[in-house]
Amino acid sequence: MSRYATFVLFLTLGIAFQLSHGTEVNVRDKTNQLCLFANLMVNFSVSYEVADNKSATVEFELPAKVTDESTCGDTSSTLKLNFGEGHSWSVNFTINGKMYQADTIVFSYNLSDTTVFPNSVLNETETVAVKTHITDVGVDTCYSCKSKDTIEADKVNQTLWNVLIQAFVTNNRTSKNITSCAADVPTTPVAPTTHAPSTTTAAPVTNSTTTAPTTTPTPTLPTPTTGKYSIKRDENSTACLIANIGLRIGFKQEQMNFDPNGTKVSGSCGVNSSELILTSNTMTIMLTFTNDTKKFRLHALNFTKNTSSGEFSEANTNLSLWEAAVGTSYMCNKEQNYTITSQLTLYTFDLQVQPFGVKNGVFSTAHECSLDDTSILIPIIVGAALAGLILIVVIAYVIGRRKTYVGYQTL
Ligand SMILES: *[C@@H]1O[C@H](CO)[C@@H](O)[C@H](O)[C@H]1NC(C)=O
Ligand SMILES: *[C@@H]1O[C@H](CO)[C@@H](O)[C@H](O)[C@H]1NC(C)=O
Ligand SMILES: *[C@@H]1O[C@H](CO)[C@@H](O)[C@H](O)[C@H]1NC(C)=O
Ligand SMILES: *[C@@H]1O[C@H](CO)[C@@H](O)[C@H](O)[C@H]1NC(C)=O
Ligand SMILES: *[C@@H]1O[C@H](CO)[C@@H](O)[C@H](O)[C@H]1NC(C)=O
Ligand SMILES: *[C@@H]1O[C@H](CO)[C@@H](O)[C@H](O)[C@H]1NC(C)=O
Ligand SMILES: *[C@@H]1O[C@H](CO)[C@@H](O)[C@H](O)[C@H]1NC(C)=O
Ligand SMILES: *[C@@H]1O[C@H](CO)[C@@H](O)[C@H](O)[C@H]1NC(C)=O
Ligand SMILES: *[C@@H]1O[C@H](CO)[C@@H](O)[C@H](O)[C@H]1NC(C)=O
Ligand SMILES: *[C@@H]1O[C@H](CO)[C@@H](O)[C@H](O)[C@H]1NC(C)=O
Ligand SMILES: *[C@@H]1O[C@H](CO)[C@@H](O)[C@H](O)[C@H]1NC(C)=O
Ligand SMILES: *[C@@H]1O[C@H](CO)[C@@H](O)[C@H](O)[C@H]1NC(C)=O
Repeated sequence: MSRYATFVLFLTLGIAFQLSHGTEVNVRDKTNQLCLFANLMVNFSVSYEVADNKSATVEFELPAKVTDESTCGDTSSTLKLNFGEGHSWSVNFTINGKMYQADTIVFSYNLSDTTVFPNSVLNETETVAVKTHITDVGVDTCYSCKSKDTIEADKVNQTLWNVLIQAFVTNNRTSKNITSCAADVPTTPVAPTTHAPSTTTAAPVTNSTTTAPTTTPTPTLPTPTTGKYSIKRDENSTACLIANIGLRIGFKQEQMNFDPNGTKVSGSCGVNSSELILTSNTMTIMLTFTNDTKKFRLHALNFTKNTSSGEFSEANTNLSLWEAAVGTSYMCNKEQNYTITSQLTLYTFDLQVQPFGVKNGVFSTAHECSLDDTSILIPIIVGAALAGLILIVVIAYVIGRRKTYVGYQTL
């Protein structure tokens, strides 16, 4: 028994380590189609009775490792996760025309699990049922709530956060359209329009269905390594597209640095359009630049990521970023962030790109982004150096004159 307890403790520690990723479940129906998706984090705070009529409170998390006992139906579905020694957490969903909602969370905990509830005087399984705050979710959209939502009951508080759920999934894949919870929506009022952001605009839409907020609370990552990429028309010519970029991707709740080491570079150079495709083990980033006679710009970005729950693709084909004159390069050394889609944010560091008119395989004059401090700094440094030089020349001249005309005093 005690050996078993040690094993469970070990397992709990192992699970706690994985927790930053949340608990993810992909529920499939009889035909192996994805019908319910959930990735979420839940903390439980439970008070229970110990000896002498006293009570103790424990806090624990929904582990990443759960046994899925969910069921999907046409009008109602249930997410049911069993974990630990006889604990379970379930939510039922119902569909109602164009909306679906989560109805009740049922949490059962087994007080005889001494690793979680030490010294409990009771040994039975307790059950609490609470109403959820997950309502009015558009059909075929994912419900997203990064903010903490605490639901209190008599002896149990449950805190949910980083929640991404889709019930009644269609077409065997999760939707890219997001219904954000009110707590995630920035307080600035926006004109209410109906439904779903189109992937081609980055503008926020309504309070219920909106693009995800641009602020993503994440642990600070190190500055990504700057990758030096180039495309050649053929093996004997010099580069026709060159790019130095340190890249970080914000995808859903996650942020990750793009590692240039091991990245496959491909693409093409055209007269009106050039393309740079970066492929790493886990993701592909496709950058399309256009040449509008005198100016170039980053026009489209297509991002594809392979995850445990399938391939996710996010694209925006209506961008106007990194603009500069054709025949020059665009440069931005400072960290920048760009909202590409509601799910995707691009962070750049030490950026310099030239997609057209590259001569001898090197960057031409750089058009620097306005936010770059160095664009002000460089003239200052050059000016200061020049002033120093003039001073030295003047001093040398004065000393020289003194040596030549000893005894003479000018003025
Ligand atoms: C649904 O997708 C999964 C993998 O993503 C695949 O294994 C399965 O065959 C698909 N089901 C149908 C019915 O297409
Ligand atoms: C639940 O939260 C309330 C308010 O923060 C607190 O008073 C109560 O003690 C908590 N209960 C448990 C079991 O943690
Ligand atoms: C959840 O619980 C864990 C461990 O009990 C704790 O470290 C963490 O801070 C809690 N998170 C929240 C959001 O309450
Ligand atoms: C959801 O589950 C709870 C508890 O099992 C039940 O009382 C409730 O009726 C269910 N709601 C729906 C809409 O089925
Ligand atoms: C639970 O406790 C009661 C006495 O409090 C005891 O009779 C019973 O056998 C216990 N059940 C289990 C499963 O440990
Ligand atoms: C989801 O977004 C796409 C455009 O990106 C749109 O065509 C579609 O109608 C939206 N779906 C829903 C259910 O709003
Ligand atoms: C959207 O905002 C309006 C007005 O502020 C409010 O009446 C409505 O309930 C909100 N809808 C959701 C789903 O929060
Ligand atoms: C994005 O950049 C703006 C200014 O350039 C900055 O205020 C904001 O904090 C940045 N957002 C993130 C998530 O880094
Ligand atoms: C590159 O140059 C080599 C020798 O100079 C030549 O044999 C080869 O055909 C050239 N390749 C291309 C694609 O022009
Ligand atoms: C790139 O990866 C290889 C093997 O994974 C490693 O040996 C090498 O040191 C890495 N280079 C850099 C610059 O990190
Ligand atoms: C850019 O496009 C114009 C016409 O649209 C063309 O004349 C010019 O050569 C192009 N520049 C490059 C570098 O391909
Ligand atoms: C983005 O790439 C994926 C995978 O290569 C592709 O299926 C999708 O059509 C592309 N989207 C756009 C808008 O180019």
